Amino acid sequence: MLTKETITDALKSVKYPGYSRDIVSFGIVKNIFISGDHVTVSVQLTSASPEVSQQLKREAELALQNLPEVKTVRVDVDAVAAPQAGAAGPWSGQNKVPGIHRVIAVASGKGGVGKSTVSVNLACALQKLGAKVGLLDCDIYGPSIPLMMGVTGKPGINENEKMVPLESFGVKLMSMGFLVEGDAPVIWRGPMIMKTIQQFIHSVDWGDLDFLLVDLPPGTGDAQLSLCQTVPLDGGVIVTTPQEASLGVVRKGVAMFEKVNVPILGIVENMSYFTTPNGERVEIFGHGGGRAEAERKGVSFLGEIPLYTEIRIGGDQGSPVAATAPETAPGKAFIKVAQALRDKLS
Ligand SMILES: Nc1ncnc2c1ncn2[C@@H]1O[C@H](COP(=O)(O)OP(=O)(O)OP(=O)(O)O)[C@@H](O)[C@H]1O
Ligand SMILES: [Mg+2]
Repeated sequence: MLTKETITDALKSVKYPGYSRDIVSFGIVKNIFISGDHVTVSVQLTSASPEVSQQLKREAELALQNLPEVKTVRVDVDAVAAPQAGAAGPWSGQNKVPGIHRVIAVASGKGGVGKSTVSVNLACALQKLGAKVGLLDCDIYGPSIPLMMGVTGKPGINENEKMVPLESFGVKLMSMGFLVEGDAPVIWRGPMIMKTIQQFIHSVDWGDLDFLLVDLPPGTGDAQLSLCQTVPLDGGVIVTTPQEASLGVVRKGVAMFEKVNVPILGIVENMSYFTTPNGERVEIFGHGGGRAEAERKGVSFLGEIPLYTEIRIGGDQGSPVAATAPETAPGKAFIKVAQALRDKLS
């Protein structure tokens, strides 16, 4: 006896073209109709090319024909228009979180380039510009958002059984740091992390947000890639330092977002230069590499953030300069990048 479960299980072996995720988990299998040994399946896609639709149809039909009880198969692939300009990827319009307008990942090819610092200050700067902003810390092993935003505490649960994000400087926050005790190491493995991140997106009462920024763990490996597929991203920002050694990692970041069809919103060059107390400009890591690499890759350059002691202190004390000193040079640098990002998305 053929059942919908058998069909669904067989369809789980079909990957969305170009992705490591299967079409069932993407939620695009809409209807399964069984009549004796004949099966009809309808799949609904948004923003897919005709080649993708064709390939999906072929592979799904093949997977079902391999079932011994199935005689004839028809898979209908419906491509419906994406509900929103800028939305991309197979999940658009499906897993999109109600109330959240734009989900933006902040990534870097390697650690220590100031990705969390940029995430935190960009979130605060967008808030200063009048946007409703959330910040999700996906760095499970080294969450630094709580410290940088000066918050501790545990998220509450509301009457709808959703987690209530903490809030600091008008930005809604969720981080693994709120859920584990002190310095207890997190020893979770991949699938549990994915599940938690999914809950951070879908089981948190984010309310209405113009932007949800997502601080990804450093690097562009499998973990980051699966995160990009787990979170319904609208775009990605890449943070780099100016020196050549760091720019290879920009390429990796670009490649990562391209692999998962996430539009690259732009590159931010952090630690661009240092100004001494007597006004002399020192380019510790060189300068301009971020802009040059952006041009080479044909992506936008969102701006540069110089090295400022105030930025480091703000991070350590939980008082981000973009929130506490937006009128100073370090604060303005972040506001400028936030403006560029906002313009890019409008
Ligand atoms: N523009 C800047 N000026 C001064 N200090 C900075 C600047 N950007 C980052 N820092 C400092 O550099 C250190 C590393 O920054 P941060 O933690 O943001 O990097 P990260 O890329 O998120 O690191 P990780 O890979 O560990 O997540 C922090 O102490 C931060 O305060
Ligand atoms: Mg970090």
